[in-house]
Amino acid sequence: MNTSVIKKFAIQTYGCQMNVADSELVEGILTKLGLEKTSNFDEADAIFLNTCAIRENAETKVHSRLGNLHKIKLTKPHLIIGVLGCMAQNLKDDLLKNKPYVDIILGPDSYRKIPELINRHEIDNKSIVDTKLSRYEVYENLFPTRGDTFNAWVSIMRGCNKFCSFCIVPFTRGRERSRSIESVVDEVKKAVDQGFAEITLLGQNVNSYKFEGNTFAELLLAVSDINGVKRIRYTSPHPQDINIELLEVMASRKNICNYIHFPMQSGSNEILKKMNRTYTREHFHYMASKIREIMPNCGLSTDIIVGFPGETEEQFRETLDLMEKVKFNSAYTFKYSPRPYTKAEQFTQQISEQVKKERLDEMLVLQRKHTLELNKKMVGTYQQVLIEKESKKSSNHWAGRTDSNEWVIIEKNNSKIKDIVPVEITSATGVILHGQEITGA
Ligand code: 5AD
Ligand code: SF4
Repeated sequence: MNTSVIKKFAIQTYGCQMNVADSELVEGILTKLGLEKTSNFDEADAIFLNTCAIRENAETKVHSRLGNLHKIKLTKPHLIIGVLGCMAQNLKDDLLKNKPYVDIILGPDSYRKIPELINRHEIDNKSIVDTKLSRYEVYENLFPTRGDTFNAWVSIMRGCNKFCSFCIVPFTRGRERSRSIESVVDEVKKAVDQGFAEITLLGQNVNSYKFEGNTFAELLLAVSDINGVKRIRYTSPHPQDINIELLEVMASRKNICNYIHFPMQSGSNEILKKMNRTYTREHFHYMASKIREIMPNCGLSTDIIVGFPGETEEQFRETLDLMEKVKFNSAYTFKYSPRPYTKAEQFTQQISEQVKKERLDEMLVLQRKHTLELNKKMVGTYQQVLIEKESKKSSNHWAGRTDSNEWVIIEKNNSKIKDIVPVEITSATGVILHGQEITGA
């Protein structure tokens, strides 16, 4: 390709960890072409936004960023503006019509074509769109350029077949497909050789992984067997695919973290049914108890939506009640946002913004109470903390996470990023724990 004009690129990532991993993949493709990455938009010749469509406010942020990029392009006409990911898939017609300055629109299954498309764009300067979803693309044999951190994201499956009635993902990312165990193991070995201490296996529906009869539990065992893998995490699972076999595999291996993201969405059986979540509140509660029975002190986080169409005050209270019963360590809470193509968008009885906000506020107060309560129980315990970064509040302190995914602040001492150090938890304030490294242990 002619790289005379396009020398430097920038990527800004919105949304989930899957997008973070996809951006690293795109970075790998562009670096291989000889382009240099920059984080300064002003010096970039190509700027890619890797976008998210999960809620309307995710899209709003991208629209406003595109407005800024348009201004840069007016002073730098050769600038290539690319929209990648879920919004490209979802909003291509709108982008083509209303934002003609966007040069390249690529859905999540089209990244292999980037070199060819940049080339074509340089020749004829026309907008290029490729949003065809694939039943097979898992980006085998393409190695991402990973950030210089402690954690390597490894995508093991893509797409979703669950069709929760509120969710746009099955429409923007297509059907489920998984990589072979061998190719995942190969990529993890490379990441370990590069010095990554923690591996996070990723998928929209990570535990419905299936490749030629191999299950997610089997994949976890294979990754756990790799020499030098200190910590393994995975996200995001669906409660339906969390079974006893998986929990026993997790409990049996030291390097598989004692933490599960367990998205509840609602605590009302009627709402769960309308959401097409395929489990009841009773089953969810039972599985949460099983998790804690098989993996004592397992960290549990969740996703909850308030204000789903038709959600009554009573049904909302059932959600708070299930939160009380399960007691999550942390929760990602969202106001329901109607999304195109989804079933729930067509439902009558949409809930007002005001009610959604009130419910969300009440839920946040309850969750904060639970987080603090569980964190306080950790005071006086000993934890292995993986040091991840400098504390935002003090350059004399590190921030790291326990096996069960709690953040802990410790003094720097002689430890360094990527070390796993023994720590005594000394206090709990809100969502953060403070600890003392045990030296000479
Ligand atoms: N509105 C609000 N939250 C949503 N999520 C997915 N779709 C929507 C929507 N339309 C939330 C779910 C999911 C998380 C990733 O985002 O809780 O688990
Ligand atoms: Fe969306 Fe449900 Fe699939 Fe998760 S399982 S990506 S919430 S449709």
